[in-house]
Amino acid sequence: MECGSVDLFILTRPTSAARREQGRRLEFEEVIRGRRSIRGYKTDPVPKEVIKDVIELANRAPSSMNTQPWHFHVVTGKPLDRIRKGNTERNLGGVAPSREIRMHGGYLGVHRERQKAIAAQLFEAMGIDWGDKERRHDWVLRGFRQFDAPVSIVVTYDKDLADNDVAIFDCGAAVNGLVNAAWSKGLGAVINGQGIMQSPVVREFARIPEDEIIMTCVAMGYPGGEFAANDVVSHRRVVDDVTQFVGFDD
Ligand SMILES: Cc1cc2nc3c(=O)[nH]c(=O)nc-3n(C[C@H](O)[C@H](O)[C@H](O)COP(=O)(O)O)c2cc1C
Repeated sequence: MECGSVDLFILTRPTSAARREQGRRLEFEEVIRGRRSIRGYKTDPVPKEVIKDVIELANRAPSSMNTQPWHFHVVTGKPLDRIRKGNTERNLGGVAPSREIRMHGGYLGVHRERQKAIAAQLFEAMGIDWGDKERRHDWVLRGFRQFDAPVSIVVTYDKDLADNDVAIFDCGAAVNGLVNAAWSKGLGAVINGQGIMQSPVVREFARIPEDEIIMTCVAMGYPGGEFAANDVVSHRRVVDDVTQFVGFDD
């Protein structure tokens, strides 16, 4: 929970929206430092051309041997509503999650601690008490509904790479590009594993071809103004914690 100079910079800098309103493109560093997951959206539709621009940028992601194993299925309107409904009903009905990628149980140890820390930040922002089971449940339901975003981008990769972990790595690079590109264009986004928990529903209504594996989905839209969780700046470990420098001081 460090609050070093980077965090202070983030908290005191002019907002990205304000800079965008000045009519200039955001610098790379402004995008990286300013982006955060957005979980409250305006209902305004996002023009197809804007999404195409975002995907064009994300599509520049590096990939192993330039294999580019990813696909983006952009879903809105009725098909997205059917996905939200099906995902929610099946989860509430006790249907076991059916992700198409491996995810073994819950997080433990330090990873569990970090998971709890971001949940605490989000709940505090939203005024949700830890003991308030009803509101916590409501928050989970929002996730199943992809936070009611007007757009969901379902990210898939080619099934013939199913045994190749590198393809998953490649998709991660593309998804990172998606959320940052969205931010640079004035959109908000959140990578939303909850949204694909019931993959058969996503597969059916997003019309995912049989030869692709569903990796995740990214909820996207214009950030809703009055949603406190949108302002949460998640913590990061400091560089010295995540890095080993070798040979520099020998
Ligand atoms: C693979 C993956 C799955 C995620 N799934 C969810 C999700 O289901 N619900 C959610 O609210 N956030 C989800 N997130 C967003 C993370 O919680 C978020 O990126 C993290 O807390 C850091 O916050 P930031 O994106 O605001 O920097 C997911 C992120 C990743 C990378």
